[in-house]
Amino acid sequence: MISVTVAQGSVNRSTAELTAILVFEDKALRTAQRERIRALCGTMPPPLTNGAFTGAAGQTAVIPAPGKAARSIVLLGAGGTTTFGLEPARRAAAAAVQTAQKLFASTIAIEEPDPASVPVASLSPAGSSIEDLGLALAEGVMLAGYRFDKYRTKKPSDFAGVRSCILLAGTERRARALREGVRIARIVSEATYLARDLANAPGNEIYPATLAQRAREAGRRHGFRVTVFDEKRIAKEKMGGLLGVARGSHNPPRFIIMEHTPTRTRRPGGPVVLVGKGVTFDSGGISIKPSANMAEMKMDMSGAAAVIGTMQAVAALRLPVHVIGLVPAAENLPGGNALKPGDIIRHHNGKTSEVDNTDAEGRLILADALSWAARYKPSSLIDLATLTGAVVVALGHVATGMLGTSARAKDALRTAGERTYERVWELPLFDEYEKLIKSDIADVKNVGGRWGGAITAAFFLKQFVGTMPWVHLDIAGTAILEESGPYTRRGGSGVGVRLLTEYLRHY
Ligand code: BES
Ligand code: MN
Ligand code: ZN
Repeated sequence: MISVTVAQGSVNRSTAELTAILVFEDKALRTAQRERIRALCGTMPPPLTNGAFTGAAGQTAVIPAPGKAARSIVLLGAGGTTTFGLEPARRAAAAAVQTAQKLFASTIAIEEPDPASVPVASLSPAGSSIEDLGLALAEGVMLAGYRFDKYRTKKPSDFAGVRSCILLAGTERRARALREGVRIARIVSEATYLARDLANAPGNEIYPATLAQRAREAGRRHGFRVTVFDEKRIAKEKMGGLLGVARGSHNPPRFIIMEHTPTRTRRPGGPVVLVGKGVTFDSGGISIKPSANMAEMKMDMSGAAAVIGTMQAVAALRLPVHVIGLVPAAENLPGGNALKPGDIIRHHNGKTSEVDNTDAEGRLILADALSWAARYKPSSLIDLATLTGAVVVALGHVATGMLGTSARAKDALRTAGERTYERVWELPLFDEYEKLIKSDIADVKNVGGRWGGAITAAFFLKQFVGTMPWVHLDIAGTAILEESGPYTRRGGSGVGVRLLTEYLRHY
């Protein structure tokens, strides 16, 4: 993890190998910004004189410092001042890291955006503070530095990557506020790294037993309680969905229970219960998937990874909220004892489901976890799951599908989504969809036909939540990325950790 520190000072005296400054696109700032850059560089750099660099969001221009080749300056286009806020800051900071990696620079200095051009009150989303800005900048730096290379015995380059970044603030007061944001960013980014690592790890490394071990380790290191049910206990608790899905594999299932109990609670009422789908590999089972891209189904435990990561962040931040994390973990394989289409299983709460398609396994294991959650009388129940291909068809890799019964939790998650840029988009739970999962012979059927797949999946889950205030987040598109972004890489994104931690920080 790139170490980020904050100091009061100016880039003029920075000794970092790469110095980054944010440049806005606004016409009104043009002259002042150019003069500033000229003074910094000694001359007016060509990308400015020839008009190539305008400050548009995402642009970068590297200016080799005259005479001192090792110390370069990078101009980071930050877009217009009116649209500037947490996400442009995150992306600009990430661009500084990407630029440094290309230049083999191991230390960076980033100057905070000029408060005269972008006062706190104008930062978006509305209500953002300097602390939030520090959080966003540091997150951009830290998350952009993520790499999953533990299995490469020969690294692509001897360059060890960016080591440290110093954020330069105009005043000591602002430095203090930014520093608090950086402290939070470090914890949240480490938790996101954990979620990414768990998702990216291959199925032969992460299976239910090892997933449970990783949760235990995180609990030991960061101070939350972890209890793990083995197959026998799962059978005793009559979690037929979890047992059924796991039956096709030689790797037995686990049910992981995590608990963060704060020393002081702010509010009465039940805990927040988080549930994460932990299918450590999804072959589809007897309803087997095509082999193209099947490998990415090692990431079908991304919901579990998000919940484990969030538990770590919540404990490390010592948030004054009682949080329970539940992870049903199983491997979905077509073994000789596997579930078959037509099988009927009985879940923890006694309800039965007809298995029409063994590839709709996530909802079967979540059904048990959601009914288990009832014992905590949660004040809000949130599940995260790479549940359907249909949500990827609907929303692509850009937004998480959100469905649920708690208007309050949905609103709070929408706000947290805007702030973290882990955005959620609601899909409806109109009752017309519910009849699609009716079964002739059991209480419910595990598939709803061709259309509205993300919604019928949510309706299946809804059979097991009763009156609990509930939100379901379908992260199939946002957890598994086909392309790298400014601060995400192809593969597991760790989505959900920042979203839920932000939700809980403001709970
Ligand atoms: N894990 C998959 C959903 C998925 C698909 C996640 C693509 C990430 C990317 C889930 O278990 C699944 O197979 N869902 C089926 C349900 C269908 C059989 C009703 C699907 O979406 O095709
Ligand atoms: Mn499946
Ligand atoms: Zn699945």
